[in-house]
Amino acid sequence: MPPAMTQFGRQLRSLWHLEPEGTFLNHGSFGACPKDVLAEQARWRLLMERQPDWFFRHTVSPRAMNNELRVAAERLGRFVGTDGERIAFVTNATEAVNTVLRSLRLQAGDEILVLDCVYNAVRLAAEEVCKAAGAKVVKVSLPIPITANDVVERIADAAGPRTRLAIIDHIASPTAVVFPVAEITQALKAKGVRVLIDGAHALGQLALDLPAIGADWYTANAHKWLFAPKGTAFLYATEEVAGETVPLSVSHWHELKFPRAFDYVGTRDVSAFLSAPAAIDFVERFGAAEVRDYLARLSREGVALTARLGAEPIAPDAMIAAMRAYALPQRREAVPDDALQLMQGLWEKHRVQVASSVFQGKLLLRLSAQIYVERADFERGIAALDRHGWADR
Ligand SMILES: Cc1ncc(COP(=O)(O)O)c(C=O)c1O
Repeated sequence: MPPAMTQFGRQLRSLWHLEPEGTFLNHGSFGACPKDVLAEQARWRLLMERQPDWFFRHTVSPRAMNNELRVAAERLGRFVGTDGERIAFVTNATEAVNTVLRSLRLQAGDEILVLDCVYNAVRLAAEEVCKAAGAKVVKVSLPIPITANDVVERIADAAGPRTRLAIIDHIASPTAVVFPVAEITQALKAKGVRVLIDGAHALGQLALDLPAIGADWYTANAHKWLFAPKGTAFLYATEEVAGETVPLSVSHWHELKFPRAFDYVGTRDVSAFLSAPAAIDFVERFGAAEVRDYLARLSREGVALTARLGAEPIAPDAMIAAMRAYALPQRREAVPDDALQLMQGLWEKHRVQVASSVFQGKLLLRLSAQIYVERADFERGIAALDRHGWADR
């Protein structure tokens, strides 16, 4: 491990494998795993391949009280204000959401509440279970630019007597809005609605205290903002719902229930999960709070810089963390192809990676701050977008 560093920015790029000529302003979509954490994953893989029997039967077996997966879960649990017994490893937030949806026993006429900024894959998963049961997905509309004023009320008002589950984004994918999930959860639970928080982007961007949020389930990706290897995420379940939270693949250790039944769902590579503590170590070398502060500061700098594009921030500072989305001016309604073209063209012609999507008819640009990014990267990326343009600017 290199010595502790207090300076953030491009000088840290050598800790990642990111292409040297690229400007990476989209950590949000897939994350980027540092070399040290990948080295830890390689160490686990070697252990697995040197003695596969011992590895699966003793090192990571759910039967062993102190199996290494539970050690990793304990560390991750403590990082988010809970303990390992509340944490099941899953491959990604998509799997966690599907797990919760399939653990519900929906009846005809039941409803699942989502926000209109719901991640598309999550919406599709909810629609699929609803279709099978004769239930329906209800979407809460939260027009942009968003204000904090009536968010909780609008969401709670959309819940009715048949709402079985509300899936609430902690940080929304297209808009990067940070929702007040504790207040929303409280309002929904007062109406008897179970709550799953989709914190796919939250782990590493926000300080998390899961019991304080009060939701029944919470999922987060560690492979995005916590720097874990791809395929590292968790599903948190309260004691009350843990017993009914069943892995998508039922396997040998089914009777051990949540979370141990999730530790073995057939033979697979669990080296990413086992490397989660190394990802936490990586963050803690810089200081988790210092990282969050740097990201918030850098993300704010984007506001003035994007003004030259005529870009409009779509949420107040109080609802933003390390990612920020802007509406780009267009002479017509945006179509999904506009976003794809913008991302692809900017990378191919200028080696700048941003995120873009279409939401409520607007073309959105989403910029991620990260500790390997500095103001000059934002300047370079925004200048390149200004030159490159976008459809019907
Ligand atoms: C809000 C939200 N939920 C779920 C996901 C899915 O994450 P994954 O692809 O890791 O399952 C994402 C991915 O960006 C997301 O932004």
